[in-house]
Amino acid sequence: MPRDFPAHVRDVYRIDLSGRYLGEPIPHPIGKGSGQLSLNVGQLETDAEAGLAFVVLKTVIAQDAAGAQSMAAWAIHETKMKVERRGAGWTVTWKGRGWDRSFDDYLALVRAGRDIREAGRLLTVPSVKYHLPRLDEPFRDDEYAFTTRALASAWGASPLLLEKDFSPTLAGDALADEKQQILRWLREVPQRIRAHADVRLAMKLMNARFDDDFQREMMDVAEGADALVCFNRLFDAERGVAYGGPDLSQRNLRVLDSYRPLPSLTVPYRRLSGTGNIHSGRLIVEYALRGCSSVQLHTFFQLPLEEYPATDGSRTQRALHALVFDPRDGLIAVLLEREAAGALERHGGELHFLDLLPNAHRPR
Ligand SMILES: Cc1cc2nc3c(=O)[nH]c(=O)nc-3n(C[C@H](O)[C@H](O)[C@H](O)COP(=O)(O)O)c2cc1C
Repeated sequence: MPRDFPAHVRDVYRIDLSGRYLGEPIPHPIGKGSGQLSLNVGQLETDAEAGLAFVVLKTVIAQDAAGAQSMAAWAIHETKMKVERRGAGWTVTWKGRGWDRSFDDYLALVRAGRDIREAGRLLTVPSVKYHLPRLDEPFRDDEYAFTTRALASAWGASPLLLEKDFSPTLAGDALADEKQQILRWLREVPQRIRAHADVRLAMKLMNARFDDDFQREMMDVAEGADALVCFNRLFDAERGVAYGGPDLSQRNLRVLDSYRPLPSLTVPYRRLSGTGNIHSGRLIVEYALRGCSSVQLHTFFQLPLEEYPATDGSRTQRALHALVFDPRDGLIAVLLEREAAGALERHGGELHFLDLLPNAHRPR
């Protein structure tokens, strides 16, 4: 498994795997979603070594200058994770929530990520959960101000690339019982953040406990974001836990599918990043066909080792190997399959991953 596998794939198969995440060109579309696999520098080093395209750091809970966190209920400590089968797929059962160490520790991780990024080894992006008020309450701007400025300074370049997390546990919380309340957050949060730094913002939308129409409405209302991550895990109200697996990708792809015929002018296709039950190149292609120019995985980087065909390398490497090179469901195989079926054409002698996206050849 060559670290620079995109160059290898280009040489051998004449396939250009380039993707895009939050407006940044990336050598291939596969990144790591925010969570327990991006908590420390060791994990970032391993991912840089494996040749991952980008990593979103664990979500930190915003605070003001005095350290007060209105969303403190999300900064709880829980380490135990259980990787379990769910239907034909996998889910990770975990009762934890956001970053549970100090904000200074988080800034140190962002700075370490900056060094790795500046060395051209891996794009790392912080993730935040900011204050979300009830309809009759104002936003706590002091938390937005302090957290955004500190992250911008640790990030060390302009613009700051940032994800705002609306998590599944939030979807399961009484705070998210009301549609109007959620829509207000999605409408107003971008400007609240942008007031304090030059930010390129991705909003990671939760799967709200409402129907597909509302999920699409959330996408439309979030037009102040530069990119949308679609969509975080489902919430099991009975067990009080978030879950993934086949139900998650089915719902996500179904919503994106119905969104496709009605593209919003303000959220062009190039600005979506897919997440949810991605465990093969074939699934990456399904998300790409619905407008996702990158994908963010978590569960597939956590499987028992015997689930990966590779017998050597870090979990990240073994996962990338399967996603790209699997002879039946890997990215290369599926792109060649589409070419053979007349669904994808070569340009300049090459197949391009980004050509999978709807309207790929419309001027942009
Ligand atoms: C244990 C665990 C912790 C997670 N923590 C976060 C988080 O802090 N912030 C966030 O935005 N997403 C979080 N996620 C969501 C993942 O980044 C990802 O979007 C989601 O799990 C769907 O992808 P998957 O099916 O590949 O796991 C977490 C997921 C898991 C399994």
